[in-house]
Amino acid sequence: MKLEIRKPSCPCLLAALFTVGAGCASGSKPTTTSSGGATIATGGVTTARGGTTTGGATPATGGVTTATAGVTAAGGSTTATTSGGQGASGGQGASGAQAGSKAQGGSSAQGGSKAQGGAGGQGGTIAGGGAGGQGIRDAGAFDAGPDVPVGPGPAQTPAYNGLRGQDFNTGWKFNRGDVTGAQNVTFDDSTWRGLSVPHDWSIELAFNQTSPAGSGGGYLDGGVGWYRKTFTLDQADSGKTILIEFDGVYMNSQVWINGTSLGTRPYGYSSFEYDLTPYVNFGSTSNVIAVRVNNNQPTSRWYSGSGIYRNVWLTVVNPVHVTNSGVFVSTPTVSNSSAAVSVSTEVQNQSTASQSVMVTTTISDPSGVPVATNTSPASDIAAASTATISQSLTVATPQLWSTTSPNRYQVKVELKTGSATLDTYLAPLGIRTAAFSATSGFSLNGESTKLRGVCMHHDLGALGSAINYRAIERQVEILKAMGVNAIRTSHNPPAPELLDVCDRQGILVMDEAFDCWETKKNSNDYHLYFAQWAQTDIQAMVRRDRNHPSVIMWSIGNEIPSPTTGTATNLRNWVLAMDTTRPVTWASNNAGQAANQAVAAVLDLQGYNYAESRYDTDHSAHPTWKLFGSETSSAVRSRGIYETPASKSILTSSDTQCSSYDNSVVAWGSSAESSYKNDVSRSFVAGQFIWTGFDYIGEPTPYGWPAKSSYFGIVDTAGFPKDIFYFYQSHWTTDPMVHILPHWNWTSGTTVTVFVYTNCDSAELFLNDVSQGSKTFASGALHLEWNVPWASGTLRAEGKRGGSVVVSQEVQTAGAAAKVALSADRSTIAADGRDLAFVTADIQDANGIFVPTAANALTFSVSGPGEIVGVDNGNAIDTSSYKGTTRNAFSGKALAIIRSTGAAGPIVVAASSSGLTPGSATVSAQ
Ligand code: GAL
Repeated sequence: MKLEIRKPSCPCLLAALFTVGAGCASGSKPTTTSSGGATIATGGVTTARGGTTTGGATPATGGVTTATAGVTAAGGSTTATTSGGQGASGGQGASGAQAGSKAQGGSSAQGGSKAQGGAGGQGGTIAGGGAGGQGIRDAGAFDAGPDVPVGPGPAQTPAYNGLRGQDFNTGWKFNRGDVTGAQNVTFDDSTWRGLSVPHDWSIELAFNQTSPAGSGGGYLDGGVGWYRKTFTLDQADSGKTILIEFDGVYMNSQVWINGTSLGTRPYGYSSFEYDLTPYVNFGSTSNVIAVRVNNNQPTSRWYSGSGIYRNVWLTVVNPVHVTNSGVFVSTPTVSNSSAAVSVSTEVQNQSTASQSVMVTTTISDPSGVPVATNTSPASDIAAASTATISQSLTVATPQLWSTTSPNRYQVKVELKTGSATLDTYLAPLGIRTAAFSATSGFSLNGESTKLRGVCMHHDLGALGSAINYRAIERQVEILKAMGVNAIRTSHNPPAPELLDVCDRQGILVMDEAFDCWETKKNSNDYHLYFAQWAQTDIQAMVRRDRNHPSVIMWSIGNEIPSPTTGTATNLRNWVLAMDTTRPVTWASNNAGQAANQAVAAVLDLQGYNYAESRYDTDHSAHPTWKLFGSETSSAVRSRGIYETPASKSILTSSDTQCSSYDNSVVAWGSSAESSYKNDVSRSFVAGQFIWTGFDYIGEPTPYGWPAKSSYFGIVDTAGFPKDIFYFYQSHWTTDPMVHILPHWNWTSGTTVTVFVYTNCDSAELFLNDVSQGSKTFASGALHLEWNVPWASGTLRAEGKRGGSVVVSQEVQTAGAAAKVALSADRSTIAADGRDLAFVTADIQDANGIFVPTAANALTFSVSGPGEIVGVDNGNAIDTSSYKGTTRNAFSGKALAIIRSTGAAGPIVVAASSSGLTPGSATVSAQ
């Protein structure tokens, strides 16, 4: 019988379970480390991870193609040179391998091929081309920007609300700390720092062991900050309606225009709009927007970031206009031959006279060709009132939106009076059906589809929570290359850009509202505001996100303490008032409890967190319940770290890292293999959302300080896949792939447990060209396994289908670290001041073989029209600043994130390290 092991709901208790040296630790686990991210240097090892080539590199083995989908940063080609012997691990002490027990260093690709192009939808599409032909690009920023008048913005538009807004991100002034009177026009902000938003001030701070954010918040302080922006409006816009939208301000924002308060918004994950019209000046008289932000930690149980961390838009419209997120597009009936499309348009008349309006709606197909149009009869809308105009259109032979063919239509709504157009509003449309069944799980367009999902928090690693379109896009590309087809926005409404990316890439979304209702998890979390704001916030989420084909369900909460059917019913009804086309669910970690079961009865889908052991009994007891794993696994691992024996569960160790053999699992969780089995073996379960796709800042379970970021990720914070990535890829993708772990830097006398993940029928392992045997999958086996007496050289796995080798990969023993090799995820980026290049540094030996244990200190520099906006290595215990230009390699790798400055030209990124030959990579900004 399996016992249900519950995670303590209080973050402090959770920390106490694992932490040594942290605030509330009780010292139950022996974990000591020094700060600064030093890692234990073991085994002068070598390796080359191949397999995932995004650049189309081919392996050195004759005639075999590496063929996996384009995992971006994992590196590229495999190489075949063997450096005999063991080398120093670089920087962090000597390498003499530790016999058998432990080593670090991930196999990882090297070979210099740039990870660009390739599958996964990345290759070279820079401007993205948002709906309406405009790309969406924005970035966290650190520069001072001049105060600029509002005019035509760069080629970016909001991902929602009609694509009408102008970029309002530049020219802000910022002050960290509270001040008096900063809302007043006359306030002197000349000493404040100039910057652009999206901006997250927490990510710029030093990690602070005594931060009120605690380990959950990643030891990064919040507090109070102020933003001000001085701007002018064209005289010609006098008489128009002037709206400002904030996609998200974390948190407790208060906004003033020219000294007049517009309101407050406690929830930091909601998008909101204010009407500036009555208070603004036109012409040469300037205006001042002031925003006070108070992240009074502890708030979220994870790293939230602080500030205006999402985009800001200024929308200038006719007083008679479509309201915020006021167009709702749905598809009541869909077949291969025809789709009925309903469009309802909410029109607001802010003028002083009644207005006769018509709505002309045009649907364009994925190539931009109009395929359906409808004009409503004229209707009168009284002054100072709002009306909804409904239309029905038909699209013949629709190109359905799916995870493999994410065909996107566009709906253009033109609001007219006579022949004059008052407003034009653009909305996304993907024509698909999505259905859940209590017996057969989820289906998309009638096709049974397991949700191969991951949970994601919103931070972007070294960029913090300052959203950037390319950074989000890269995360999703990497996950898609692993075979992911679904993302849960745990545990809050996402940046709208995420949904745009998911629409484009064919990713299904569980859109989630809250992490608590009335009862707190943290002292200053949303429970303080729930009673007053829950309806507003959940309806803002649904209204904003309901046109995205990617969104397939609404979640009203995660692991809610003390839930009641009354609140659940209210939340569900508030959702349904905005959208009746999608089911409403939640994520329950207490599915057996009476209160949870009562709530389950009023919801459409049952999301279970870590309760796979209940699937069969609950399916029998409640045959109408539609079950899925809203949160599963919570296995932990560090990239390139291996704890043996692989067959033994090993959660913690003295280096404050976790093991990559899928043998590090928290008490309430299960291994990747186990949660995969529980899901795949039950067709009535719609799928699972694994905790988590990427590592995130905060919640460094199972450790405390100096661990500051999570170990749960399948991909680390830098975007480097861990070995388990390839486990999922082997079960979730079909293009031939094979992946070996661990690396191949051990010592003589060591027998190494070798795992091979592959989607081939069988694999044969060779050590220095000597076969170690061919293996097929025994019943129930999810990986292949050999025990190989270590010898320096090359370990190669060949994946076979029908007896023929279709793919291979090698890992090689590396010598001492000798050089730095840089590769960029793309060779060309947009010269728009927002687009990013992700540049990976691999430490190599003299023969160009990747050194998987290397921890050399790197210094990055840039020349040309680019700047470093973040550095990372994915090491959870590295507390050096994400915002510097130096970083130690971790398990042989580090990352620099480069942003274009706005000018065109070659950006040359260089990385140097004492005693190593420096490396460089060039990216063209165009
Ligand atoms: C879950 C929770 C997540 C995260 C996870 C870690 O219970 O919903 O937010 O804390 O545990 O395992």
